[in-house]
Amino acid sequence: MTKQTRVIAVSNQKGGVAKTTTTINLAASLALADQRVLVIDMDPQANLTSGVGQKDQSTEAGTIYDALTSDGIVARDFVLPTAIENLCLVPADRHLTGAEIELVSMPDRDQRLRKFVNALRGEFDFIFIDSPPSLGLLTLNALVAADSVLIPLNCEYFALEGIADLMSTLDRVRESLNPTLSVEGVLLTMYDDRTNLGQQVGGNIREYFGDKVFTTVIPRNVRLGEAPSHGVPVIVYDARSRGAEAYVALAREFLSRERSA
Ligand SMILES: Nc1ncnc2c1ncn2[C@@H]1O[C@H](COP(=O)(O)OP(=O)(O)OP(=O)(O)O)[C@@H](O)[C@H]1O
Ligand SMILES: [Mg+2]
Repeated sequence: MTKQTRVIAVSNQKGGVAKTTTTINLAASLALADQRVLVIDMDPQANLTSGVGQKDQSTEAGTIYDALTSDGIVARDFVLPTAIENLCLVPADRHLTGAEIELVSMPDRDQRLRKFVNALRGEFDFIFIDSPPSLGLLTLNALVAADSVLIPLNCEYFALEGIADLMSTLDRVRESLNPTLSVEGVLLTMYDDRTNLGQQVGGNIREYFGDKVFTTVIPRNVRLGEAPSHGVPVIVYDARSRGAEAYVALAREFLSRERSA
């Protein structure tokens, strides 16, 4: 029996909480564990695209911008291979900013990505969608397309600020277009266990989200910050770093949760 594709949006409208870092490194760790993985860049900053070594690359058909704003496209044409076996990318570039505006006048404006993604189900075990730091139409498209949402939270004082807005957006999406959207998990990122603040914030988040919080915590690690400038996931850049080890552990926990779900 072939496994069903799981589509996961990595979302938090707060900027710089490690959405892209988590998308790249969880996806790469899963690909190295023989899972067929696709990552889709839904952020006009295109950090995901450059982080997997495909800066300014486009398919012959174009980027996710063209896939969202044109009719009669073939989804497979927008998939690029990466240097990592089993890891593919649908790239983005700056043009995607325009999609946020162009989509407004389209009748199925919040379901364009869902249609695109559904056409790729069956070809991958996991599809991760990296979202921009806003709750606009691009993020909405990601949430409507996804089976679940993975929420990275950085362990800083204001980590939970804005979470109520994200939760009410999830509720709205469930009430309308995607009734079965679930929370895949909440991930504590940039954790510094040497500070009381890190421990305290981590505690607050666990109180709020309960067992939705992954046991695996991602520590602050300079290698995670350096790897994107080399266009590779941290596991390729420095497999023995704490950052690489943490994302491998996350992939293991993620897979065992998937299997027991
Ligand atoms: N655990 C970590 N330790 C150290 N640096 C990290 C860690 N996680 C992410 N970073 C760095 O922090 C910055 C923000 O991370 P990232 O780009 O993944 O966040 P984001 O949520 O995708 O941001 P945006 O909202 O702008 O899309 C990046 O420079 C990244 O390299
Ligand atoms: Mg990002």
